[in-house]
Amino acid sequence: MSIVISPSILNSDFSDLRGELAKIAGADYAHVDVMDNHFVPNLSLGLPVVESILRVSPVPVDAHLMIEDPDRWAPAYAEAGCASVTFHAEAATAPVKLARDLRAQGSRAGLALRPATPIEPYLDLLPEFDMILVMTVEPGFGGQSFIDGTLPKITRTREAISAAGLDVWLQVDGGVSRDTVERAADAGANVFVAGSAVYKADDAAAEVDALRSLATE
Ligand code: DX5
Ligand code: ZN
Repeated sequence: MSIVISPSILNSDFSDLRGELAKIAGADYAHVDVMDNHFVPNLSLGLPVVESILRVSPVPVDAHLMIEDPDRWAPAYAEAGCASVTFHAEAATAPVKLARDLRAQGSRAGLALRPATPIEPYLDLLPEFDMILVMTVEPGFGGQSFIDGTLPKITRTREAISAAGLDVWLQVDGGVSRDTVERAADAGANVFVAGSAVYKADDAAAEVDALRSLATE
């Protein structure tokens, strides 16, 4: 299974997004967290800033929409050119229709679950998605601790994907660092989002490489 590293720019320096994105040219994607102050109690950035990021990012953009009513707002992120658009299961009204719309725009479609949201009600939908995101912290803020209690859900999700013979990626987001990446990989994750671990490191590029090799072992 391919190992994919998608650093989150949430805790990078927003006054120099071009420079901050250049630091992660060795990653596979740039993970961009869109928050609306309703689905989560925080406000980050929206479509105009994502459009600017798309113009200067050295790697494809992996948009994580922590917003209400993704049915209405998510397709614009795919249209703008995000390579992957992930919306939350808890917020979507018609997740299958939305996933099909995203794919029709040429984007990968991702379904995100909060730590307490079970995967089981969504297993039938797996063929409609390119990626499942199991949140390993409560969405809203960077710098929180990895919740070990999400590991069994990661394992169950990977088992279901394998049993169905699907090539669905399994992303983890929140508290991913050198200390936790192997646990997540062992449980079955193959896409790793790391925000503070990468941007608080002295050498962000080296941190990306370190996470990749730990996840690959
Ligand atoms: C949190 C965001 C994450 C966040 C991760 O709600 O979805 O992408 O930036 O930050 P760290 O890696 O610091 O937990
Ligand atoms: Zn995220």
